[in-house]
Amino acid sequence: MIAFLCKSDEGRQMNFDAKIHLTYFRIFYQFAVVGPLFGSKTMAGKRKVCIIGAGPCGTSALFHFDQISDSSTEVVCYEKSDTWLGLWNFTWMTGTDEFGEPCHGGMYKHLWTNGPKECLEYSDYTFTDHFGKPIPSFPPRPVIRDYLEGRLVKKSKSDLKQFIKWSTVVRYVSYKQKSDNFTVTTEDLKTGHTFDSNFTHVIVAVGIFNSPDKPYFDGIETFPGRIIHSHDFRDATQFKGQRVFVIGAKYSAEDVALQCMKFGAKSIVTSYRSSPMNYKWPVGIEERPLVQKINGKIVYFLDGSSTEFY
Ligand SMILES: Cc1cc2nc3c(=O)[nH]c(=O)nc-3n(C[C@H](O)[C@H](O)[C@H](O)COP(=O)(O)OP(=O)(O)OC[C@H]3O[C@@H](n4cnc5c(N)ncnc54)[C@H](O)[C@@H]3O)c2cc1C
Ligand SMILES: NC(=O)c1ccc[n+]([C@@H]2O[C@H](COP(=O)([O-])OP(=O)(O)OC[C@H]3O[C@@H](n4cnc5c(N)ncnc54)[C@H](OP(=O)(O)O)[C@@H]3O)[C@@H](O)[C@H]2O)c1
Repeated sequence: MIAFLCKSDEGRQMNFDAKIHLTYFRIFYQFAVVGPLFGSKTMAGKRKVCIIGAGPCGTSALFHFDQISDSSTEVVCYEKSDTWLGLWNFTWMTGTDEFGEPCHGGMYKHLWTNGPKECLEYSDYTFTDHFGKPIPSFPPRPVIRDYLEGRLVKKSKSDLKQFIKWSTVVRYVSYKQKSDNFTVTTEDLKTGHTFDSNFTHVIVAVGIFNSPDKPYFDGIETFPGRIIHSHDFRDATQFKGQRVFVIGAKYSAEDVALQCMKFGAKSIVTSYRSSPMNYKWPVGIEERPLVQKINGKIVYFLDGSSTEFY
């Protein structure tokens, strides 16, 4: 039996002591991110823009700077991994990566998009543009990644990769009121060297689903089975034949429960804090209220019921 705590939280690996241009992954709002920077402050006649993170959001900002091609604007993007598109990459690693950094992504093997592609495609580069023919509305992860990369490679004016400093993590951003500039402290993960660089603008695009939130439940440490967070869930096949307990009632909980059932788990119980998902679940999946306590292999719920796992 396995328990999942299905919640991700704000990234916590960076410290900011300043006002920063925050970005959010909303494709249709990309121009709103880049646009306001023009006509604003400069450093020795140049706008120096730092983008932190080369996920879909950071690369979209980069894409639009490239479209605008303004010679008085210099853009540098720092990416702590060695590839772009953030969460849309799959990694077998969990916990920490090869440099001892927290693994960023909670992506798993059989993830399909949970929103129709028509609602998330770029107006300047549709899925049909990319694939040359219509495709189904809910594609799997590699198809989404391929599409996102296609736009960056095929629609940009220059090679966007030249603006990205790979395997470089941003450790600290400070704001100097006097100069009205930012100092960004980075670490080259391959050499261990740290650098300070000054910028007029900083766009934070580090994602929001990269740091697992692990609430405590009374007695959880007495549970004899394996306990993992959905951030470390990679493949449902390993739960074949097992009784799985899922804590949470949103997208991760739903998908983890359904995938475990599809790949052969014996039974699934999900537990909700605020409200049940109330789907017409397949036989073998049931919903319960929040956990009250755990005593060994028995889980007690707030409605007075209990279930034995393991
Ligand atoms: C399991 C899961 C499934 C999802 N499925 C969908 C879906 O089906 N459809 C959908 O639209 N959305 C989905 N999402 C939401 C997803 O967050 C967005 O699609 C998208 O990836 C967000 O892009 P982003 O650029 O903001 O962040 P991210 O994709 O998280 O990219 C952030 C980038 O910043 C880098 N970074 C982080 N910290 C630093 C640092 N200190 N220094 C340098 N670089 C740093 C990371 O390495 C990463 O490359 C899903 C999320 C999760 C967790
Ligand atoms: N493509 C896909 O199929 C797919 C799959 C997984 C995730 N995603 C995406 O990933 C993002 C994150 O989704 P998510 O489901 O991981 O996280 P989420 O939306 O933040 O949901 C977290 C769940 O955990 C519960 N929870 C949090 N703290 C708790 C506590 N202390 N005790 C009990 N329950 C607690 C929450 O309860 P409350 O309901 O009470 O808040 C909520 O149900 C979303 O954008 C989602 O679309 C997509």
